[in-house]
Amino acid sequence: MHRPQVRTASRSALSAHRPIRALALAVAAAGWLTIVSGSARAQADDKPAAKPAAPSAPAKLEYMGSETCAMCHEDLAKAFQKNPHRLVDTDKKYKHPAQACEACHGPSSKHEDSMNAADIRNPAKLPAAEADRICLSCHLNAPTHVGRISGSHAKNEVSCVSCHSIHKGPEAMVARKPADINHLCATCHRDVWASFQRPYKHRLPESAMSCVDCHNPHGSLLPHSLQLVEANEPACVKCHGDKRGPFPFAHAPMQLEGCTACHEPHGSANPRMLTRARVYFVCLECHANLSQPTPVANGTMGAVPPAFHDLRNPRFQNCTVCHQKIHGSYVSQDFLK
Ligand code: HEC
Ligand code: HEC
Ligand code: HEC
Ligand code: HEC
Ligand code: HEC
Ligand code: HEC
Ligand code: HEC
Ligand code: HEC
Ligand code: HEC
Ligand code: HEC
Repeated sequence: MHRPQVRTASRSALSAHRPIRALALAVAAAGWLTIVSGSARAQADDKPAAKPAAPSAPAKLEYMGSETCAMCHEDLAKAFQKNPHRLVDTDKKYKHPAQACEACHGPSSKHEDSMNAADIRNPAKLPAAEADRICLSCHLNAPTHVGRISGSHAKNEVSCVSCHSIHKGPEAMVARKPADINHLCATCHRDVWASFQRPYKHRLPESAMSCVDCHNPHGSLLPHSLQLVEANEPACVKCHGDKRGPFPFAHAPMQLEGCTACHEPHGSANPRMLTRARVYFVCLECHANLSQPTPVANGTMGAVPPAFHDLRNPRFQNCTVCHQKIHGSYVSQDFLK
């Protein structure tokens, strides 16, 4: 839980500065006060005005270029030569030629004079929405980000820099190996990770798969930020293609609730990752075994097993011995083959 702590700490640091800022502003220009205090965001952007030492008009900030940073941040600048963001220096498309560092850190003239950490923008210390705005100035419209607005990371202020560290090497920039991704996600989602320790589960602890096989961390158009396959099917059918259909005789819950009507996708104490310990308990949640004669309109969802299903007889408890094609069938309305 290292990362969110950083965010929280920085937020309280920000608010600690607020009274000072307000004071400085009051001295500077009363007219500004109404504008700036109306928005905490604007205050955070307003670093120059925030310094009580400079109550007069704030000095205009200027871009100094990436090379000047290297004078003092030598190691970091050297390592940056291997960073994909190096492209910002060389490709005019990103609107900051030779200013890659400042594309994220903002104009640095004041910082280079003062050499004070407080005079330069550090995305990791900003509120999530502001940090994201910096990143999205270039990363908007990427296909991976289609569902971001509805995804709960954006809503819950989990910012880009919670998952992507710019200067700590390629693995920290983007986790690509399943083990690294799972570790990243598990730092916050401990309860989810715990369900992968159950006996029947997808093999994430063995690093054969990762969370992003099923979820898009940037959000998606499906609930739970599930990955989309092809048009708008959930990720499951990418690997379990035989369950995809379309089946002439489809089992209704496949289309309605989907796989999680019967399976626990992360892991389960039950064989086949079912939601219940025995197969027929799963079935009977929807197909009630009512006493005979079966009422016609019984109000339960789905059909009631016909009379010859004697559930006291163990033979009939193994529903899927007869109803083999439980996910859908090409030939049998009752999924018998
Ligand atoms: C003249 C020297 C000098 C130059 C030039 C310089 N810095 Fe710094 N920078 C410093 C010092 C000193 C610190 C403070 C280090 C500390 O407090 O540990 C610092 C800290 C930082 C921090 C950390 C801020 C924080 O919140 O912790 C960032 C980010 C930064 N510099 C970015 C840049 C960028 C980008 C450039 C070029 C545009 C640049 N610096 C140019 C000396 C310099
Ligand atoms: C793509 C955005 C981006 C670019 C480009 C970028 N930085 Fe950073 N920088 C960050 C973020 C985000 C952090 C916070 C720590 C992290 O995520 O690694 C940071 C942190 C820092 C720090 C604080 C030390 C630390 O590791 O926490 C310094 C100093 C710094 N950057 C300097 C630079 C310099 C110099 C350049 C150009 C050579 C540069 N940055 C380019 C985003 C960027
Ligand atoms: C000024 C434009 C710009 C800004 C701002 C920017 N990026 Fe990038 N980013 C790029 C470019 C250019 C690349 C490399 C080319 C590409 O992959 O499209 C890149 C690549 C990446 C990658 C993929 C790296 C890889 O190995 O595939 C990640 C992750 C990333 N950026 C995260 C961030 C984050 C997080 C921020 C905000 C702190 C940010 N970027 C801000 C331009 C930018
Ligand atoms: C909850 C963690 C998380 C958050 C928040 C997050 N990312 Fe990512 N991002 C990842 C992971 C994990 C990958 C690797 C995905 C993969 O390999 O399929 C990735 C991949 C990327 C890539 C590489 C391109 C690609 O799709 O392969 C870029 C660029 C990127 N993210 C940018 C961003 C930006 C910009 C933000 C903020 C708006 C952001 N990310 C927020 C976890 C996150
Ligand atoms: C910095 C902490 C943090 C990290 C790292 C993180 N998450 Fe989250 N995630 C959250 C928070 C906070 C929420 C919203 C509250 C909740 O549902 O638990 C959330 C929600 C989710 C949800 C529910 C989505 C929805 O839209 O309903 C999914 C799925 C998810 N995260 C997947 C991931 C994956 C996959 C990764 C790794 C790539 C990851 N998370 C990394 C904090 C994090
Ligand atoms: C096999 C596909 C799959 C994998 C792998 C997977 N998930 Fe999920 N996850 C789902 C599905 C499907 C749901 C929706 C569950 C539902 O509808 O009840 C979900 C729901 C969630 C939720 C929101 C509901 C909840 O249970 O809290 C979070 C958070 C989440 N997953 C995080 C993760 C993380 C973190 C990982 C990796 C450690 C992960 N998932 C791996 C398929 C998967
Ligand atoms: C990246 C590929 C992949 C994705 C995506 C995936 N699975 Fe799986 N699934 C597997 C593999 C491989 C197994 C084999 C079991 C193992 O790994 O031990 C498996 C096993 C299962 C099993 C247990 C089968 C058994 O014989 O015990 C169920 C149930 C299951 N998956 C359901 C789902 C559901 C539901 C989803 C979507 C939420 C999903 N899977 C997404 C690869 C995947
Ligand atoms: C109506 C309940 C139900 C739904 C919905 C459902 N399953 Fe199943 N699934 C079962 C049952 C019951 C079994 C165990 C069959 C047995 O007894 O062998 C099973 C077994 C499996 C197996 C392992 C055996 C095999 O046939 O490969 C996988 C994999 C699987 N399901 C994936 C999925 C996926 C993926 C989805 C969604 C597309 C899904 N299931 C939806 C009830 C369901
Ligand atoms: C989430 C609810 C749900 C679960 C769980 C479920 N079913 Fe169904 N099932 C339905 C619905 C709804 C229908 C459609 C009924 C209709 O068309 O009248 C249906 C239809 C059927 C049919 C075909 C009925 C017909 O009208 O031809 C059979 C056979 C069947 N289910 C067997 C099973 C078995 C066996 C299980 C357990 C492995 C099971 N179902 C689990 C909801 C469920
Ligand atoms: C010994 C084989 C067998 C077992 C075990 C079995 N069924 Fe059936 N089931 C059938 C046959 C055969 C039919 C088709 C009857 C017909 O078409 O008249 C059927 C039909 C159904 C129907 C469809 C009724 C309709 O209206 O068309 C449902 C629902 C059903 N079974 C549910 C179950 C459930 C739930 C279980 C487990 C508790 C189960 N079955 C166990 C053989 C079996």
